[in-house]
Amino acid sequence: MAYFIGPVPAELEQDMTAEAAGMFVRLVVDYFASTRSGDGRVSTAATPEQLAARFDEPLPRGSQPLADVVARLERDVVPDSNHLCHPRSLGHQVSAPLAAAVWSETLISALNQSGAVWEMSPVGTIIEAQVIRWMCDLAGLGTRAGGTFTSGGTEATFAALLAARAVAVPDGWQRGLGSSRPVVVCGEHAHYGVARAIGELGIGTDNIAVVPSRDWRLDVSALERTLQQVRAEGRQVVAVVATAGTTATGSFDDLVTIGRLCQREGIWLHVDAAHGGSALLSAAHRSHLDGIELAQSIAWDPHKTMLLPLSASMLLVADEAALQAAYSQRAPYLFHGNGGGRAWDQGLRTFQCSRRLDAIKVWVALQRYGADHLGALYDRLCATARCLFEMIRARPDFVALHEPQSNIVCFRYVGDAATLTGAAGQGFSPADDERLDRLNQELRERFNRSGEGWITATALGGRRVLRVTVMNPRTTDADLAHVLDGLGAIGRTIAAS
Ligand SMILES: Cc1ncc(COP(=O)(O)O)c(C=O)c1O
Repeated sequence: MAYFIGPVPAELEQDMTAEAAGMFVRLVVDYFASTRSGDGRVSTAATPEQLAARFDEPLPRGSQPLADVVARLERDVVPDSNHLCHPRSLGHQVSAPLAAAVWSETLISALNQSGAVWEMSPVGTIIEAQVIRWMCDLAGLGTRAGGTFTSGGTEATFAALLAARAVAVPDGWQRGLGSSRPVVVCGEHAHYGVARAIGELGIGTDNIAVVPSRDWRLDVSALERTLQQVRAEGRQVVAVVATAGTTATGSFDDLVTIGRLCQREGIWLHVDAAHGGSALLSAAHRSHLDGIELAQSIAWDPHKTMLLPLSASMLLVADEAALQAAYSQRAPYLFHGNGGGRAWDQGLRTFQCSRRLDAIKVWVALQRYGADHLGALYDRLCATARCLFEMIRARPDFVALHEPQSNIVCFRYVGDAATLTGAAGQGFSPADDERLDRLNQELRERFNRSGEGWITATALGGRRVLRVTVMNPRTTDADLAHVLDGLGAIGRTIAAS
């Protein structure tokens, strides 16, 4: 019987042309241009229901011209997305991405190499290993170091604690944890991904020992007391987790003291540097990470302060063999061993099976801009945050909650309450504080809806506060003034109502 496979559908071939690509390129370039100018809204005023109604339609069964699809993206998707490239986008820890890395995404998808297995990505796995090598060297982790790209800091911390668990409970992979109740110690400001990993790993969130902060950093004396207590209970410590660039305030734990303590006690130190790891590139800010070389594992997200597009994240480990041992995986049909040398199959060291080669866009960014230049961009984000802090300090209607150590600033609108108490935001009565909590919450919502800027909020010391993260090197002092003036005007309106 003769089989006949017809010609490839015409659309598939048409879409491989420069003309097709050009439609997407134009869309992106227009988006870059319109946001770079600082014109237009930063985000949408539409409700989730309005947006859901826009896309509530039957499954498209037939094809349609690519130009129509791109026109739909232009009309229905771009305008109501968060415009992170807008200089007054000052919200979460997601970047206004570097353009060269954005364009690399197209190549990464076109090549579609799966990064778990060398034979599926002969160059990509090598580039990943090289980028990891560079980053381990920057952190001072030594010659046995290695690691893997991950989907984000959350996965990186999960994998780090898996490796730490494999050291503390060597047969945990096969037998589970049984009746042993090992402990993970972390600061009260640790990212929620730490507790999530502890739950996922079967360690159990009841077995987290939370250490309080002092000045938004892990209190090292309290850490020492916690470790003594855990030891007195005869329990094992799987790991201490320190944070380098906390989510709320961007503060750095004292890694030198914590690292030495862990070294003395033989405890695995994991540093969650998802946010602040890029300070390794910066001459001015590198010292915040002094002591990071004492860590057994480090989570570092280039998709945060190295300004890469999502996702680009890494787990670095001081001993690559420990990471490989943690994934006690047998899949002979896929992984081909190392023949005596280093195994290039990255799947031996990662949670993922099919995996994107995010390392390529980090490699492109390093080639294009250079590590020093990327470090200077990090400095610029921090300098912009410092500028905002100074502006807040100079105004009577806002109070800054901390001095920024990186690119995050938390502050509060207090209106004339500061003048009333005469204490720059200290010593408000509980009633004042509660009123200001409500006011600041409403203020953020109204301001973001206005489209003039976009900021976040968080809780600090039990109070609602406003929070800005500078993730765009194009934000100017005029943008910061615009945001503060806008917030101040809305704050006054709410206070008067
Ligand atoms: C300190 C810290 N760790 C981890 C994470 C999680 O990283 P990801 O969103 O890449 O999983 C964040 C995210 O904000 C963070 O601030």
